[in-house]
This record gives sequence, structure tokens and C-alpha cells, in this order.
Amino acid sequence: MANKRSLKFGALIHGVGGSVTGWRHPEVQSDAGVNFEFYKRQARTAEEGKFDLIFIADGLYINEKSIPHFLNRFEPLTILSALAAATERIGLVGTLSTSYSEPFTVARQFGSLDQISGGRAGWNVVTSPLEGTARNHITRPHPAHAERYRIAEEHLDVVRGLWDSWEDDAFVRDKESGVFFDPDKLHRLNHKGHYFSVEGPLNISRSKQGQPVVFQAGSSEDGKSLAARSADAVFTGHEKIEDAQEFYRDVKSRAAANGRGADEIVILPGINPIVGRTREEAEHKYEEIASLVTIEKALEYLGRFFDHHDFSQYPLDEAFPDLGDLGSNTFKSGTDKIKRDAREQNLTLRQVALRSATPKTSFIGTAEEVADRIQEWFEAEAADGFIIHTDVPSGLRDFVEQVVPILQQRGLYRLDYESDTLRGNLGLPIPENRYTAERRRAVEVSTGD
Ligand SMILES: Cc1cc2nc3c(=O)[nH]c(=O)nc-3n(C[C@H](O)[C@H](O)[C@H](O)COP(=O)(O)O)c2cc1C
Repeated sequence: MANKRSLKFGALIHGVGGSVTGWRHPEVQSDAGVNFEFYKRQARTAEEGKFDLIFIADGLYINEKSIPHFLNRFEPLTILSALAAATERIGLVGTLSTSYSEPFTVARQFGSLDQISGGRAGWNVVTSPLEGTARNHITRPHPAHAERYRIAEEHLDVVRGLWDSWEDDAFVRDKESGVFFDPDKLHRLNHKGHYFSVEGPLNISRSKQGQPVVFQAGSSEDGKSLAARSADAVFTGHEKIEDAQEFYRDVKSRAAANGRGADEIVILPGINPIVGRTREEAEHKYEEIASLVTIEKALEYLGRFFDHHDFSQYPLDEAFPDLGDLGSNTFKSGTDKIKRDAREQNLTLRQVALRSATPKTSFIGTAEEVADRIQEWFEAEAADGFIIHTDVPSGLRDFVEQVVPILQQRGLYRLDYESDTLRGNLGLPIPENRYTAERRRAVEVSTGD
């Protein structure tokens, strides 16, 4: 019997917040990006709410126009390793770029986090949007969007291959006989590809969830194809339920074309819920954040999506400028949408910048209203769950204390963790070690099973 679908939640922990000026809000700790106690508190709040995971986003290039959080923040694997020891059940998902890392190191780092946390690690695969990233690394010029995704495919295949270096019963550890491991259960990948040559084996074994969960963030055509082929979960973002439904259908049908079941890939849009005792109170909380944003800061925020393009050169109250190809090599899915919306809705530059920096979503209202929206998106197959990000720390607590119980009462969300691994809670299968599977299949063929 198929299990009933159940909502999944992640909490994006984001230092002083994802907005340009949110750090000035009285409630925001202005050193939150490098404050371990803050991260620990937020992670534990999410765990009280039985969230599947916490999520750490990341980037590898900053300048004076970057949002404050990006200027001074923890490296994801480092903070997640510390949080592994400060939490018990919640998944730990960190962002790491395939364009600027070595598969061997990535496999080893996430393999270690997976062992440290007892099977709770996840890797958010990104391709790095910003040109300047290349100037911080001794690799090659910043690859073009399509090539970044080709690198990502191969990188991910290598990492997955390395994670299977050791079969699950490879370590014999028999002091009597002196046998530490069974050499038949140790495997070299011997990968020689277009971008990477990696021999292996990896120097860490699999955790009890088999392999870390692979997330993918990037919603262009290439991004969706990568997710459908190789990811266990997708982090995306949509303003309208119709767009989210289309994305959901598209990714699930691409996954099916790759021979994968619909429940083998979990789709989680990011949302920023704002909960008030009344709708007016929630709207007021939104205004408190939005009113901190100046037009200059909004232009800088918008500019980053276009590789830090300087929008201050254009008139504010005229039609959004024609940017040609600009933006298609950075956050392509995002910049395509910004340009399309501006054209179709005849928006001025001021409108585009403010919408982008202070988005007003349908997840603002009383706890009942926010729960209604979540239920609507979930049941309409626009989402399997959500990555929750909030501008102020109490936003997460409000969600956990007020919205979560409503979703639990409605039977849409767990009362307690089903599993102690991230895969288990997300309802994802544990991938069998590829060599063990080969051996098993060979035995089945020879015995006629
Ligand atoms: C919801 C979402 C979250 C993302 N998070 C990150 C991130 O934390 N770090 C990063 O370097 N890129 C992030 N990206 C950017 C993508 O990885 C990618 O580099 C960029 O969006 C271009 O890919 P796309 O056109 O396929 O979306 C994110 C993209 C989306 C849509």
C-alpha cells in the first residue's frame, strides 16, 4: 500500500537574513552570521517542530554590494558539523558548488558529516552563478551556464561513485585474525571523464543512510534535467501556485522519463511565512521589514542576480531596461523570470527592484491562513513541502509554535520523526551499494532466482 503523502519542512538558517536591510530590524542579532549560539537555537527550534532538515545556502564571491549576510558567514560544512553535535534527529543540508570543488574532497566532507551525524547529511548541489567566483579559485575562467551543468553531472556521478568505495560490511575489524577489512569489498572508481580523473577509493565508508541526500538548487531547463536525473530533492522558488505546479509536474515527469518514481524526488519551494495574531498584525510585520529597504539598496539587490550589474544608471520610473542577454550566465532561471515579468506586466525599474527586494507572498496572515496556503499548495501538487526562511528569528518560532500544530491536527504533518536518518524522514530509499547490488544480481542469475 502506498504511504499517504506527508508534508516535509526545512529551515533555511541565514544569519542576518536574506534581505538587503533586514539586519537593521531591532530583533535581528547583527552578528548572527558568525554567531554559533544563534545557529544552534534556530536548529533546535526547527527540530522541536520536527522539521526534516536545516539548510545552509552559500556563495563564493562577495563585493561591497553583496547583501549583509553574504559578507560574513560560516562555511556550510563547518557549521553543520558543529550543529550535528547540537541536534539529534534533524537533517543537515549544506550547499557546495560543483564548479569550484574537487569531487574527492566533496565526497569525503559530506561522507564525514554523514558519519558524524549518524546519517543526517545532505548536499545542495549548486553551480555558482557569479563570474567573480573564478577570480577566487585557481581553476579556469568561469564556465558558461550550460557547461556548469555538464560539469555538475560528471562531478555528482564521481561523488556518488566514491561514496560506494566501501561495501557496507567491508570492515571486518577482527583483532584475533588481524583482518581489518575485506579487500573484495573495497572498490576503486577509476573514473576518467571529460572534466575529472579520479581513481579512488574514498577514505570513509557509508553511513546508515547509504549516501547523503542530494539536493539541487537551480530551476533552468538544465537545472531541472540535472535534478530529474540525479537529485533526491529540489530547492526551488515560486511566487504563484500555478508556476509551482508546472515546475512540479515538469520535474516529476522528467524523473519518470529517467525511470524514477514520483516519490523518489522531493520538491521543496522556499517560502517566507509571516504569522500574526490577526492578518493586520502579519501585514504590519511585513511592512516593518519592507520599510527598511531604500531604493538604492533594492537596486543593488536586483543587480546581484545580473552579476552585480549597476542598475543605478537607468531612470527609475521608466520601463525596465532592455538588458539583452545580461543575466543568462548567472541566475538564469531567476533573471529570465524577472525580464519576462517586467515585459508582460509593463513594470518600471523601481517596481522590479522593490518587488525583488521586498517580495510580498501569499504566506502572510494568521496561523490558520498560512496553514491553509500550505495545505493548498501541498494538495494541488505544487510542493511536497517547503524550505522555510524568515526575516526575523521569531518568524521560525512563530511557525513552529503556531502553524505546525494546525498542520499536525489536520493529519498533514508528522507528530514525531519516523526515522533517525534524513533519507528515512524524507521517505527516500536507501541506495544499495552498487557493488553489493552487482554481486547480488550475479548470485541471482547463477541460482536462477
Ligand atoms: C531556490 C534556489 C536556491 C539557490 N541557492 C544557491 C546557493 O545557496 N548558492 C549558490 O551558489 N547558488 C544558489 N542557487 C543558484 C543556482 O545554483 C545556479 O547557480 C543559478 O541559479 C543558475 O542556475 P539556474 O539558472 O538553473 O537557476 C540557487 C538557485 C535557486 C533557484
